[in-house]
Amino acid sequence: MEHSNPFHHSMSILLAILVVAAAAATKTDGLCVKSDKAALLAVKSALGNPPALSVWNSSTPCCSWDGVSCNATTGRVTELTVMALNISAPVPAAIANLTALQTLNLAYNQLYGPIPSFLGPAVLPDLTFLRLDGNRLTGAIPPTATVFNLLLVGNLLTGSLPATFGSAVFGEVDVADNQLTGDASMLFGAKKQLNALRLSRNRFVFDLGRVELPEALDLLVIDHNMVYGSIPAAAAAPGRKWLAFDVSYNQLCGPIPQGRYTHRFGAKHFAGNKCLCDRPLPPCS
Ligand SMILES: *[C@@H]1O[C@H](CO)[C@@H](O)[C@H](O)[C@H]1NC(C)=O
Ligand SMILES: *[C@@H]1O[C@H](CO)[C@@H](O)[C@H](O)[C@H]1NC(C)=O
Ligand SMILES: *[C@@H]1O[C@H](CO)[C@@H](O)[C@H](O)[C@H]1NC(C)=O
Ligand SMILES: *[C@@H]1O[C@H](CO)[C@@H](O)[C@H](O)[C@H]1NC(C)=O
Repeated sequence: MEHSNPFHHSMSILLAILVVAAAAATKTDGLCVKSDKAALLAVKSALGNPPALSVWNSSTPCCSWDGVSCNATTGRVTELTVMALNISAPVPAAIANLTALQTLNLAYNQLYGPIPSFLGPAVLPDLTFLRLDGNRLTGAIPPTATVFNLLLVGNLLTGSLPATFGSAVFGEVDVADNQLTGDASMLFGAKKQLNALRLSRNRFVFDLGRVELPEALDLLVIDHNMVYGSIPAAAAAPGRKWLAFDVSYNQLCGPIPQGRYTHRFGAKHFAGNKCLCDRPLPPCS
C-alpha cells in the first residue's frame, strides 16, 4: 500500500536518482571513468607532456580532451588519437589500461622501440583499428597484434609476419615501407574478410600463384618485394573489382590473366618482374 502513496512514490524515485548519481560520481569524472583518466594522464606524461596536449589536465573531463572519444553510456575511452605531433618516445605502457579502446592512432610521430604486445585483442578486446604508421618502431610485429585494421606503414619493422596472422580476422593490413621478410601468404584465403593488403617495399618472399584471393579483396599493392610465381587467374575473374592493383618489382612470371583490371592499371603496375607478359606488358613470346 505504501507504494501507492504519491509522496512515497516520488521519494523513492528521487532516492533512486540520488543513488545512480552517487554511483556515477564515484565512477566517472564528467563523462569519463577515473581509471581511464589516470591512464591518459600517464600516457601524456610518458609522451613527455607535449604542449599540444596541455588541455589534458586533471581539472577537465577527459572525454572532452583533444584526440579522446568515449562511450557516453559507460564513460570509457574508446578512441585515442595523438597524431603528427613529432613526439619522440616509446609507445606508452599505460595504454594497456584503456581496456575499452576501439581505435588507437599514434601515426606520424617519432615513436621508437618495439610495438608492445598489449596492442591486440588479448589485452584490448575491443581494439579494431590500430594506426602506428610513420614512426620509427623497430623489432618484429608481435603475434598478439591481430587487430582488424592494422596500419604499420613506414616504420623500421623487421622479421617475418607472426604465424598467428594466418588464423586472425583482418579487414585491412598495411605494412608497406618496413624491412619485413619471409612469407605473407598466410594473409590470403578465399574465406578471409581481408579487403585491403599493402606490402610494398619490404622483402617478402612467397608464391603468389598458390594463394587464394579473398573474395572481398579489392586492393592488392605488393610492389617492390621478392614475390614469385604467377598472378592467380582469379585476379581477372568476372565480378572482381580492383580499386588498386600493383605487383610491380617482384619476381613474378607468366602470362597476366586478362580482365578489366589489365586495361585499368597500366604497365607500371606490372613492370620490373622476372618474366610477366601480355597486356599491359609486351606479349608472351
Ligand atoms: C586545464 O585546462 C583548461 C582548458 O584548457 C584550462 O582552462 C585550465 O587552466 C587547465 N588547468 C590546469 C590546472 O592546468
Ligand atoms: C556504449 O557501451 C554500451 C555498453 O557496453 C553499448 O551497449 C553501446 O553500444 C556503446 N555505444 C556505442 C556508441 O558504442
Ligand atoms: C621534431 O623533433 C625533433 C627532435 O626530436 C626536432 O629535431 C625536429 O626539429 C622536430 N620537427 C618538427 C617539424 O617540429
Ligand atoms: C594500470 O592501472 C593500475 C591501477 O591504477 C596501475 O597500478 C598500473 O600501474 C597501470 N599500468 C600502467 C602500465 O600504467
